[in-house]
Amino acid sequence: MGELDGRVALITGAARGQGAAEARLFAAEGATVVLGDVLDAEGEATAAEVGGEYHHHDVRDEAAWDALVSGTLARHRRLDVLVNNAGIFQGAQLLKTPTELWDRMIAINQTGVFFGMRRGAEAMIEAGHGGSIINVSSVAGLEGIFGATAYGATKWAVTGMTKTAAKELGRHGIRVNSIHPGVIVTDMVTEAIAGAEEKMAARQPIRRLGEPEDIAQMALFLAGDRSSYCSGQAFTVDGGIHG
Ligand SMILES: NC(=O)c1ccc[n+]([C@@H]2O[C@H](COP(=O)([O-])OP(=O)(O)OC[C@H]3O[C@@H](n4cnc5c(N)ncnc54)[C@H](O)[C@@H]3O)[C@@H](O)[C@H]2O)c1
Repeated sequence: MGELDGRVALITGAARGQGAAEARLFAAEGATVVLGDVLDAEGEATAAEVGGEYHHHDVRDEAAWDALVSGTLARHRRLDVLVNNAGIFQGAQLLKTPTELWDRMIAINQTGVFFGMRRGAEAMIEAGHGGSIINVSSVAGLEGIFGATAYGATKWAVTGMTKTAAKELGRHGIRVNSIHPGVIVTDMVTEAIAGAEEKMAARQPIRRLGEPEDIAQMALFLAGDRSSYCSGQAFTVDGGIHG
């Protein structure tokens, strides 16, 4: 028996990286997995691998959110888990942050999560089974990280929205939590950490960098019944380096 048997999970940014690892693990635990992303070829391939369904879905697009969530309800009659995972990272110190970068970061990392929580929670209430919303923030959403003004702003926003939404949605049986990854080896950071991997791993209390599967295990815990009394919380998965 799988931990997510009979559950329907929607994961944004699931074509690759952490989202794809979550899709794999959730499907292996019995969930029907709906994957969204803007990287269509990779998204289709990941969905085929896990036996899920892929939809082109830009988290900035409110109408696309409505279409994806309404379609999911029409096809599967329920939405139990929403993972707001899609995100972008581009480092820039405050004095060198162009407004265009600020706006793009807010649109994807922050407004995308807002659209997702609002439409996802509506669908969970309509289906009547409660649910779990998992927002992917960052350690940059818990402390200041040098060179990440815009990114940090969006990730702190996710931390805050999570806590507020948890207070409002608990009465509907919906839990809302955030995950705060440290450095996880995915395409997002390959360039930024190139050549420094060994040094960075040696500084970690747990002496390695994170893998997408480390985050997927936390997402599985938050998606299923083992975390049924956890809501509004920030779960850090970083090898012990922060805090
Ligand atoms: N990798 C890390 O070290 C790290 C650390 C902390 C937090 N995070 C967060 O983890 C999440 C997943 O990142 P990852 O490490 O798997 O990186 P990744 O770049 O491999 O995956 C991000 C996914 O989001 C998708 N995406 C980007 N813009 C989108 C949009 N507008 N609409 C829909 N999808 C979009 C990308 O196409 C990609 O598939 C992100 O929210 C990221 O900010 C990552």
